[in-house]
Amino acid sequence: MDFFNVYEDDKRAESYAKLEFPGDYYLAFRDIPDLVHKHVRAGKAVDFGCGAGRSTRFIKSLGFEVIGIDISERMIRSALEADPGGDYRLIRDGEFDLLDEGGFDLAFAAFTFDNIPGVERRTELLRGLGGLLNGEGKIILLDSTPEIYTHEWASFSTKDYPENKNARSGDLVKIITTAVEDKRPVEDIIWFDKDYMELFEGSGLELVESHKPLGKVDEPFEWVNETEIAPWIIYIVKRGA
Ligand SMILES: C[S@@+](CC[C@H](N)C(=O)[O-])C[C@H]1O[C@@H](n2cnc3c(N)ncnc32)[C@H](O)[C@@H]1O
Repeated sequence: MDFFNVYEDDKRAESYAKLEFPGDYYLAFRDIPDLVHKHVRAGKAVDFGCGAGRSTRFIKSLGFEVIGIDISERMIRSALEADPGGDYRLIRDGEFDLLDEGGFDLAFAAFTFDNIPGVERRTELLRGLGGLLNGEGKIILLDSTPEIYTHEWASFSTKDYPENKNARSGDLVKIITTAVEDKRPVEDIIWFDKDYMELFEGSGLELVESHKPLGKVDEPFEWVNETEIAPWIIYIVKRGA
């Protein structure tokens, strides 16, 4: 299926390149170090859908040697501008054979699957990521929960899109990131937890842990729903037996 990658757009890419970890992005990444230390041996990592390199630099800061890969030329250019010494590679969709099969301790994907449509394509990509892992390797997916598209948040708004409430896994939903200069809505693909479980099974993967970070009252952000409802879900998966 042809799918327009919203991150190929110049204005959006520039806006995204300046994004670090405000508000809900802090919450998204807050528990990743603990989860990584619990489940993954530091070594080699691939950051699938690295964008402008924010997530790649984050994984690097945890002690990994990391390669960022993305299908957007614009995003790879931004990543290299921000981190000239970093290893960022433009790939074609699903082109994992450029990487060392079975050579990675971690395949990380932050928000990448929020933009990937279709069970078939998701399954193929997850299977491909699984193939990059060594025996002990893990995939960590950081994705949006369905609830993010039906509530208000410190860094996002969806109130103008009540139709999001009727969406099922694979449908397009709209969300505005209030934390970036570009306030045009982004169209994401919603995916429910039970359908993630089917994807993992269909991709030869096994769930190790899932985690939904909640905001804490003493954090320096004006949480809206975050202390009660999680906008993000983190899946840790491994290759099935
Ligand atoms: C929301 S951005 C996230 C960027 C980065 N992970 C971060 O947290 O800042 C999603 C990225 O996934 C990339 N992407 C989407 N589909 C992809 C695919 N099939 N293969 C590789 N990258 C993809 C997009 O080009 C975009 O840069």
